[in-house]
Amino acid sequence: MQILLIGGSPAQRSRTQILLDHSADWLRHRGAQTLTWRATDIPAEVLLHAQFAHPSIAQLREDVAQADGIIIATPVYKAAYTGVLKAMIDLLPERGFEHKVVLPLMTAGSANHLLALDFSLKPLVAALKAEEIISGVYASDQQIHYPDADHPARIDEDVKRRLQDNLEAFHQALQRRPSQQQAVA
Ligand SMILES: Cc1cc2nc3c(=O)[nH]c(=O)nc-3n(C[C@H](O)[C@H](O)[C@H](O)COP(=O)(O)O)c2cc1C
Repeated sequence: MQILLIGGSPAQRSRTQILLDHSADWLRHRGAQTLTWRATDIPAEVLLHAQFAHPSIAQLREDVAQADGIIIATPVYKAAYTGVLKAMIDLLPERGFEHKVVLPLMTAGSANHLLALDFSLKPLVAALKAEEIISGVYASDQQIHYPDADHPARIDEDVKRRLQDNLEAFHQALQRRPSQQQAVA
């Protein structure tokens, strides 16, 4: 089972990335293979000028094609997903998430933009023709803690529980489906 994790934060120190790292660990413990692409892995000019032919985009498209499941995580910026996430997604094929199970995650400064998950991120995922979209998790900054000298990164129990429920649903949906490798064999 091949899982691609996509991180849409432009920040190097990122709470969204903490949710993704936790999710990747959870999935690897269940035997999945994981690969992470952050928006910051792609050169800025490639995103700005939509350079479809750049080698990094060829690799991203290949990794998306090979994935059985995708976890897409973004901070809320101005009540929606980030611009860099959209710039990255714009470089994928029109039906890039076809036959895939997708789990959306969002972090935000407060609970005020909770509906951004349903009205912003999920429609974007649906536009790429995802086969199945898991309900998703929205968490606020107060619930995700950066590591410090004494502690590793920490996620509040409530968010951890919701994330775990979503990961279970994601994993089960993937187990019901043939893998991408089997589908092309
Ligand atoms: C430019 C910008 C716009 C933001 N807009 C919103 C917003 O509309 N609503 C909200 O709740 N939080 C907003 N935030 C807060 C971020 O969503 C929040 O801090 C998030 O956890 C950052 O994720 P990251 O650490 O992965 O970058 C904004 C932050 C920035 C920098």
